[in-house]
Amino acid sequence: MRANHLEDYFQFLRFPSISTDDQYTDNVAECAHWLVEKLTAIGLETKLVPTPGHPVVWAKNKHQPGRKTVMIYGHYDVQPPDPLELWDSPPFEPVLKNGYVFARGSTDNKGQILSHILGVQETLEQSGDLPVNLHFVIEGEEEIGSGSLPQFLTENRDALRSDIAVVSDTGMIARGKPTLSYGLRGVTALELKITAARIDLHSGVYGGSVANPITALARLLATMHDADGHVAIEGFYDQVLPLEDWEREAWRKLPIDADKEILQETGAPALFGEKGYSTLERIWGRPTAEINGIGGGYQGMGTKTVIASHAMAKVTFRLVPDQDGAEILRVAHLHLEKHLPPGVTMEITDGHSGPWYRTDPHSKFGEAALRALQTAFKKEPAVIREGGSIPIISEFRKILGVETLLLGLALPDCRAHSPNENFPVENLEAGIRLNKAVLQELAR
Ligand code: BES
Ligand code: ZN
Repeated sequence: MRANHLEDYFQFLRFPSISTDDQYTDNVAECAHWLVEKLTAIGLETKLVPTPGHPVVWAKNKHQPGRKTVMIYGHYDVQPPDPLELWDSPPFEPVLKNGYVFARGSTDNKGQILSHILGVQETLEQSGDLPVNLHFVIEGEEEIGSGSLPQFLTENRDALRSDIAVVSDTGMIARGKPTLSYGLRGVTALELKITAARIDLHSGVYGGSVANPITALARLLATMHDADGHVAIEGFYDQVLPLEDWEREAWRKLPIDADKEILQETGAPALFGEKGYSTLERIWGRPTAEINGIGGGYQGMGTKTVIASHAMAKVTFRLVPDQDGAEILRVAHLHLEKHLPPGVTMEITDGHSGPWYRTDPHSKFGEAALRALQTAFKKEPAVIREGGSIPIISEFRKILGVETLLLGLALPDCRAHSPNENFPVENLEAGIRLNKAVLQELAR
């Protein structure tokens, strides 16, 4: 690894480009500017495109007629690093330990997108040109739902015309094991607020006379699943396509012990999920309902004898083919209204949502990607689906008419979104090789 590559990586990681928090808006912009300078320095024509939210960085080489056009997408925004006290080193002061770089964004997505930039840099240095017409589209709002990107894509649809998109923002099934993902889950969100009394009440004076909103919320949330881990919302599974036999069989044959690894990675005392499916099937091919946050009442030290006025919860659903986010929100609303305990009122606010994605791993471009993975890693690639979401991928299909190759470089224990996020230098190097190989293969 060239020392200046690592220096670039560390500079990129030092920006606290936290898209969700207004306090960091300037840092997000500075990070975008850094990318513009970097992409310009390697010889690409680069623009910083303002949006109503965070800017998009758009770079291209000199396009020539008759060549394939490839769009490489990534994001420079990161998740908040909280809880800070659980980090072994500060999240925005990258450190290299035993071959791994620790920092927020090291894997998701700065390390992965930078490896493509460095790959292009090396190719341009070595041969002065790329084998394809290239677009880099690197956004600053992926972690908050890519709200501004559809408009950018629509406004620049003709200029962005591409044959295929390449994205490294997913995982590898194991260290050194190249992985092509052909599916992602979608996601849709809602928030609910349960209210009883107008104000917090003395629980001795009023306890027994009016409903407790926290109790009501707990009862309500508990109706969302049955004891076997199935989602108990009527109609929730109506649009779900069953897993195909070939998929179940292929996933069973993957050279990993997912159950053991997930127990290790998470520290949970046991696995739990929808009965009748293996762990990988539940994560990659089945929908879920998750309570992401819950609040209400006294949270301070000691005891407070109080009946809170309200309680709230944040809920998201992960979606699989052929579920529709709007339909899932509709049946979720019906379910929550039907099971709302007496004596309280409820307000539901819908949040962002993004569709699932599924493509053909054995298309002409899919096969090219598999050859590139084989070249870069010298190993047979795994072909999988994944549980995470990149909602903008389906907009690439809808707005630009392009399919996406998901060539992830994240390791299972990378701790994306968690404390001590890390990325091995080995994968930065592999990503550079992968970039060169995939542009070669796609050019054919
Ligand atoms: N890189 C992830 C998505 C991902 C993670 C895909 C693991 C496959 C495997 C991305 O940055 C992400 O976290 N996406 C969010 C989307 C949400 C904010 C709409 C997610 O999946 O929660
Ligand atoms: Zn992420």
